[in-house]
Amino acid sequence: MAFNHKHLIDITEYSADDIMTILETATRFKEVNERRIKQVPTLKGVTVVNMFNEPSTRTRSSFEIAEKRLSANSLNFGGSSTSTVKGESLVDTVETLCSYKIDMIIVRDKHAGVPRKIADVSGVHVIDAGDGKHQHPTQALLDLYSIWERKGDLNGLKVGVVGDIGHSRVCGSLIPALKIMGCEVTVIAPPTLMPARPDILGADHVTSNLDEALPELDVVYMLRIQRERLEGAPYPSLREYNLLYGLTQEREHLMKPDALICHPGPINRGVELDSYMADHPKRSIILDQVYAGILTRMAALYLLLGGSEDGITA
Ligand code: CP
Repeated sequence: MAFNHKHLIDITEYSADDIMTILETATRFKEVNERRIKQVPTLKGVTVVNMFNEPSTRTRSSFEIAEKRLSANSLNFGGSSTSTVKGESLVDTVETLCSYKIDMIIVRDKHAGVPRKIADVSGVHVIDAGDGKHQHPTQALLDLYSIWERKGDLNGLKVGVVGDIGHSRVCGSLIPALKIMGCEVTVIAPPTLMPARPDILGADHVTSNLDEALPELDVVYMLRIQRERLEGAPYPSLREYNLLYGLTQEREHLMKPDALICHPGPINRGVELDSYMADHPKRSIILDQVYAGILTRMAALYLLLGGSEDGITA
């Protein structure tokens, strides 16, 4: 299958075949990650800049590990240690970095649209590692991989996306990605955390009643409450939110016996998930999602940058 993308910025630009190519390539990199020496020379000589202008644990560390395991050279850049604090513009910053003949910029930024702007001005490959409330496409890929690995097939799965739909960039790419892969998506959120037009994301069903929706779902994807992006008071208290929308031990009897629990992390324990559900040995695949971050990011880097097959088994 031909893979003809320069950037990974908007998941809606990817077809089901493109996404399946990434998931199948991630499976090949799982084999690499199970070796004693977890490194292949496929991106030797390639330089990748990790520009993280917002905090991150999972995305940043997994991109760095993915680059190292593919033998790419990494430059970690961003935040308060750069000349942006002296007033240097985004465009000047990017042009400066590109003068070093880099090959790719991976960017996280609090402003939606920054990855596209960088792609327009730089000429190098760009991956969106989360931009404002817009998208987080590699999160969607690792989510799809984790669900696909457990369920075997994505087509026809009933997936509920629960919580802070209005402020979440995760759902901005997850919901379209689930639809591209043939899932039936239900959005579940309090009215105050629902965007004005939830249909824009492409969900099949929209409800504010978690207890009514749960019995139908094969996968329950709990979103993090985006405390850093909340304006006003969209719910009376975190305790109230947990009572109505938290996936708690008391709600387990409403779930299908084989329903899975996902969360992008970081978890607000006791708010959107209690520890019983977050650590559930049969249902929770949250740490599988974290591991899939390495595999799918290795796959995306390899496919976008046209890496060599050296060291990868067929
Ligand atoms: N899921 C996610 O993007 O986590 P980080 O903010 O830790 O990267």
